[in-house]
Amino acid sequence: MKYRSEITGVGSYVPPKVFTNFDLEKILDTTDEWIQQRTGIIERHWVDDETSNSDLGLEASLLAIKNAGLDKKDIDMIIYATLSPDHEFPGTGCFLQAKLGLHEIAVLDIRQQCTGFIYALSIADKFILSGSHKNILIVGSEIHSKGLDKTPRGRNVSVLFGDGAGAVVVSRKELLDSKKDSRVIATQLFADGAFAKELWIEAPGVACGNDRISKEMLDEGLQYPQMNGKTVFVHATKRMAECLGSVCQEANVNLADVDLFLFHQANLRINSKVAEMLSIPEEKIFNTIQNYGNTTAATIPLGMDDAIKAGVLKKGMLVASAAFGSGFTWGSAVFRY
Ligand code: ACO
Repeated sequence: MKYRSEITGVGSYVPPKVFTNFDLEKILDTTDEWIQQRTGIIERHWVDDETSNSDLGLEASLLAIKNAGLDKKDIDMIIYATLSPDHEFPGTGCFLQAKLGLHEIAVLDIRQQCTGFIYALSIADKFILSGSHKNILIVGSEIHSKGLDKTPRGRNVSVLFGDGAGAVVVSRKELLDSKKDSRVIATQLFADGAFAKELWIEAPGVACGNDRISKEMLDEGLQYPQMNGKTVFVHATKRMAECLGSVCQEANVNLADVDLFLFHQANLRINSKVAEMLSIPEEKIFNTIQNYGNTTAATIPLGMDDAIKAGVLKKGMLVASAAFGSGFTWGSAVFRY
């Protein structure tokens, strides 16, 4: 029997507390106008309590499993994508697995930052097609708000990021009609570590000395994300356009045939530029950054869930997705939902 990987359930969760750009004006030396003009962001959700990353992941997972029409016991693998883990180790997927009350199933944490969801989808697809697994839960979840420099020093980065989680269930089904079946059609993954330090958190880390972090490093703010925004912008637009074109070629579809584009949500200007480079009509791109900011590994599954709820993404539609992020990593996917 030939298999296909179908996205059978999608769910998402954001913490209730909303922080608008006007709220940020009160703590950072910034303005709503600056943030909206450069990024498109109007507001983001930030936790204001003890909520952990796996707590957000749990809420999104339960909804995705329910929407797949499955019981959590049907899940036979978890792939967890995050750059803001609950703890240094073990991976956050292990904490989620225990919270779901599941035992023994394989758990894989991946660290591909903004490209985490595309990497996870590609890995899940391979496991499903091999016949070894039936229902893989993919989670992209971030709590950025606890790790941002919320002083004027960090304003270039802190205004960009939000908290949230998205999850999908990828299920093994029989392939009947390769042109019509809902399935992951093609995925492509890339990375270039030469740019690792253009967008990173330096400390703590074993490359930072015997105690992994020093008081001087803390004073310098090396525990917070550092970004060369202009370099990221240039590479993100180039790489997203490239890998969208090549994945469509591999999937044997024209860009014009794609019904909906689900891009990573780093910056509205990045997505507009990619649309311009590829002559994609803006109305075919479903953006959510205005209300969530950049939720890194969560942006694509969170956007997918919102698109379904808004009636924009319907069963049978052809979807193309692309992401770019720290690493640098980038990747793309074409799937029929
Ligand atoms: N509010 C007000 N002013 C600010 C802020 C802020 N939050 N942040 C920086 N500024 C000031 C700077 O101090 C600087 O002032 P100066 O001209 O007096 O020196 C001025 O604004 C321009 O600063 P730049 O850092 O050069 O800002 P830039 O124009 O590059 O815009 C931005 C920053 C929006 C991040 C841009 O570089 C960009 O779009 N980068 C793409 C990367 C991105 O969006 N990353 C998101 C996360 S990564 C990912 O998911 C792929």
